Parts: sequence; C-alpha cells; structure tokens
Amino acid sequence: MSDNIFRIAIIGCGGIHHEHARALVGLPGVALTQVCDIKPERADASAALYGCRAVYDAKTVFESDEVDGVHICTPHYLHGPMAIEAMRCGKYVLVEKPMAGNLAQAREMIEVSDSLGGRLGVIFQNRYLEAARRLRQIIADREMGELLGIRGTVAWKRTPEYYSDDWHGRWATECGGVMMNQAIHKLDLLQWCAGRPATRVSGRVSTDGLYECIEVEDTAHIRIEFEGGLVGTFYATVAGSENEPVEIHTRLEGGRLLYRSGWLYRWESDGRLTLLVAPERQAKGDKAYWGIGHRAQLKDYYESVLGGAPIWLDARQGFGALEIIRALYAASRGGQPITLPWIGE
Ligand SMILES: NC(=O)c1ccc[n+]([C@@H]2O[C@H](COP(=O)([O-])OP(=O)(O)OC[C@H]3O[C@@H](n4cnc5c(N)ncnc54)[C@H](O)[C@@H]3O)[C@@H](O)[C@H]2O)c1
Repeated sequence: MSDNIFRIAIIGCGGIHHEHARALVGLPGVALTQVCDIKPERADASAALYGCRAVYDAKTVFESDEVDGVHICTPHYLHGPMAIEAMRCGKYVLVEKPMAGNLAQAREMIEVSDSLGGRLGVIFQNRYLEAARRLRQIIADREMGELLGIRGTVAWKRTPEYYSDDWHGRWATECGGVMMNQAIHKLDLLQWCAGRPATRVSGRVSTDGLYECIEVEDTAHIRIEFEGGLVGTFYATVAGSENEPVEIHTRLEGGRLLYRSGWLYRWESDGRLTLLVAPERQAKGDKAYWGIGHRAQLKDYYESVLGGAPIWLDARQGFGALEIIRALYAASRGGQPITLPWIGE
C-alpha cells in the first residue's frame, strides 16, 4: 500500500482486461498502477489508455514492491501457475475463470490462499446479477418449496476466426472448449443455485461443428447428481447458429422458474411467463454480456480485502464448476460416471 492506496496490476492486456481496468475506475482505496503483457504493444497501448506503467514480464510484477494485488487475465493454462507465484510473492490475486486449467493446480491455489489467510478471488461476475441472486434466494429460502430439478442451456456460436489466435481451441492452452471457456459461467450459476454439493457427474463432450479448427470440445451434455438426489442437466454448444439467451429452468414444488440471460420469470401453468426480475442495465452489443457484474464483483472483492473480511467468491467457490467440468471430461473419456469429490487429477 502506498498513501493508503492498494496498487493493482493487470496481467494480460487482451479483450477482458478492459472490463477490469474500467471497473477499477472510481473504486475507493484502489488504483490500477501497472499493466503487463508479453506483447509489448498491447501493454503499451493499455498503459497509455489507463494512465499507468507498462511491464512486459509477469515475474517483474509479482516481485515488485510497488504492487499489492494482481488480476490475472491471461490464457487458461497460465492461471494456476501465475496465481500461485503471485500469492507466494505476497500479492492478493483476482483470477479470471476458469480458476485453473486442472484440479491439481486449483487445489494448490486453495492451499496457498488459505495459508496466507485467504487472498484469492475467482471471477464469476454473473453471480452478481440480480436475477441470479433472486433465483438462488428463492431456492435457498424454499419460497416455492423444495427444488425438484434444474436444467441449464448455453447455445452460442463461435466462428473459426475466434480460434485463430495462439491459445483458443487447444487443450494445452485453453485446457478445454465450450465448457472451460463459455459455459462455465452458467454451470457455476446452476451449481450455486442448486445450493448443495454435486456428488456424481456423467456426460459426453464432442466436437460437432468446429472440428476443422479446434481440438477441444464445442459441444457437451452433462447429468449432475447433487447431495440428496437432486438431478441437474446441462447442455452447451458454441457450434450453434447464433448466440441465444442462456437459460436455467428450475422445477420447484410450488411451480417453475425460468432464468434467461439476466431476466427471471415464473413459468405459469397456462404457459405465460410472469416477470420477477429485469436486469438493472440491459446488455447492448455482442460482447456486452461480458462486463455486466465485473464492477460489482471487483467492488465486493476490494471491500473485503481492504476491510479485512473474508473474500466471498474465493478459491473454494471457484472450484465447484471446475470440478464438475474436469469430472465431465473424465466421464466422457471413460464412458463411466465420476463420483465427486474427484481426485483423478
Ligand atoms: N469473465 C468473462 O466474462 C470473460 C470474458 C472473456 C474472457 N474471459 C477470460 O479472461 C482471460 C483472458 O481472455 P481474453 O479474451 O482477454 O484473451 P486475449 O487473448 O484477448 O488476452 C490474453 C492476453 O494475455 C497475454 N499473455 C499471454 N501470455 C502472457 C504472459 N505469460 N504474460 C503476460 N501476458 C500474457 C496475451 O498476449 C494477450 O494479450 C481468459 O481466462 C478468459 O476465459 C472472461
């Protein structure tokens, strides 16, 4: 800390780092002081835009006395190693989803964070959407009775150009496909709203549409058993015809609810939808769904860090969806359900 300001560096100056940089503007007690990218032109452009210092090597940032916390916005395979190194250098870390490329790294991140009193936050900004919070609350408070079933759908489109960079579409760098990258947000909402541990995962992943340009899956279906016998199902693809609204359907004793991209409805028995929650700010443009929630999550994270309170969306919270996805990959390879907790990797 310098002059009571918590100094932040962003590692990785690609698409999502702008959401982090913009969300930090005006947050009390914090300032973006460094941006880092191995592509110097990206770090330079970002430094000019946000009025801070450009650095080209993450290690220099981690070892700097002039940085208190780092945001990791790099390709997935770097999340675990970078977060661990930064925490060991005494930094607080906010890492983009998925928290790591595999479960061994994620467990080590939890251990290191715990050993330092809790330092790691994991970005799942959709948990801050009002409709998602209300859905979770209705289920948790049993306002409509017991939850009897839950189902999620992500049907999006990604073109070959999206995979033309140096990391998307490859197991070694993206560490998975639609599940590790796009659908993890919605799977996280589903398991968070279910509100109980997942105990068994089965399903399949496949490459149905983008097989000429990617190694990883573009399509997945999953069946999740939760503690107490609740069954969840999930379907995700980026080989669709357009980016459709994402949906989570819940069947409760007292009726059905439909979450659809930030809107929450009650599904009446005659088929009408009654609006329960509308988004505070409607998404505009193709990528607008990215930013919604980043500001709310960063505000929450830094209120906890600066106030000495436990981080809510921490490493353990970040682990649940990742564990289901890694178990899904193993279930798909082996053709057998995987029982959780899974220590296969
Ligand atoms: N929360 C969300 O809604 C959301 C949306 C988009 C992306 N993301 C996540 O953010 C992360 C980055 O995604 P993106 O779309 O910005 O990717 P990107 O490819 O646009 O940016 C990644 C940047 O990291 C840099 N980089 C790579 N290796 C580095 C290293 N060793 N040191 C420093 N910089 C390095 C690259 O040069 C690149 O500029 C991913 O984890 C992705 O899943 C999250």
